[in-house]
Amino acid sequence: MRKTVFSGMRPTGKLHLGHLVGALSNWVRLQDTHRCVYSVVDWHALMGEYEQSAPLRENGLEMVIDWLSCGIDPQRSIIFLQSDVPQHLELQMILSCITPLGWLERNPTYKEQLREITTRDLQTYAFLGYPVLQAADILLYRAQAVPIGEDQLPHLELTREIARRFNFLFKTELFSDCEAILTPTPRLLGLDNRKMSKSYGNTINLSDSPEDILKKVKTMVTDPQRIKRTDPGHPEVCNVFAYYKAFASAEEKAVVEWCTGAAKGCTDCKKDLADAIIEYLRPLRENRQKILKDPAFVKNVLKEGADKASAIATETMTQVRKAVFGAN
Ligand code: TRP
Ligand code: SF4
Repeated sequence: MRKTVFSGMRPTGKLHLGHLVGALSNWVRLQDTHRCVYSVVDWHALMGEYEQSAPLRENGLEMVIDWLSCGIDPQRSIIFLQSDVPQHLELQMILSCITPLGWLERNPTYKEQLREITTRDLQTYAFLGYPVLQAADILLYRAQAVPIGEDQLPHLELTREIARRFNFLFKTELFSDCEAILTPTPRLLGLDNRKMSKSYGNTINLSDSPEDILKKVKTMVTDPQRIKRTDPGHPEVCNVFAYYKAFASAEEKAVVEWCTGAAKGCTDCKKDLADAIIEYLRPLRENRQKILKDPAFVKNVLKEGADKASAIATETMTQVRKAVFGAN
């Protein structure tokens, strides 16, 4: 019996190359070894975006298209919208009852977001409980493994603590510990050498056209010491080189040679990189074309995903209710 993996992403916008080399490639690989459950966590998104909730549905559908185009396979994985499976909320409610306020108030991610996010009012009842819903997501499928980035580790620790407290209080062994499958910290900076982020407008998106990609790569910052075409460059400090390593590793040696030997200029170096990225994303582009041809496809994937997720959720909730109330 394969172990179950659960992970979720908030539908806050188009996915980019950072998501691909970080989370998504990991998600795709895990399909070979695990039963994978991947959720568009739109309720989590609503906690932050409640003032602009209208795009959440559309963003969710677009995100699923991004997932599918990368090779998340609905034949093998359960792909669904969190808000299609109301048991997430039922379990969240029960877990809320047993989660001490102090655990949530102490949560470093919470404190950091309240401090740093100033464009939205996050002083809400639900946002404090963000990790409780996340725990419910994971425990509802009794997932043993959760692929996440390092920033999410405090949330996973809370999940484990909540699960143990549930087992202790209700004298059960229903929930087992879940472990993190850490996604390597992003190796890729944005086009402008800052952290890659939609809000900085420095991303190459998975859905960008070849023309967009070329235009964007041309704007990339290069080795600042290489001013003239005849100056030798330093690939190790150049973000363009980092992209070569991620998307055209076969070219790595050649880049070092033409850069340090001033045999090729940065403009041509970037042009070649754009070609390599365009080629790298070709299968994704082709998959996307196919998916877009059948407008019902994504909706069907989500419908089937919700059915499969609900079946597991219903079973877990039967046991949860038995543990809590002694009956169904
Ligand atoms: N909090 C996660 C993030 O912002 C998203 C998320 C919600 C999640 N529920 C989850 C991740 C359950 C893993 C497991 O990235
Ligand atoms: Fe960067 Fe390429 Fe220019 Fe070297 S030649 S500095 S790797 S863009």
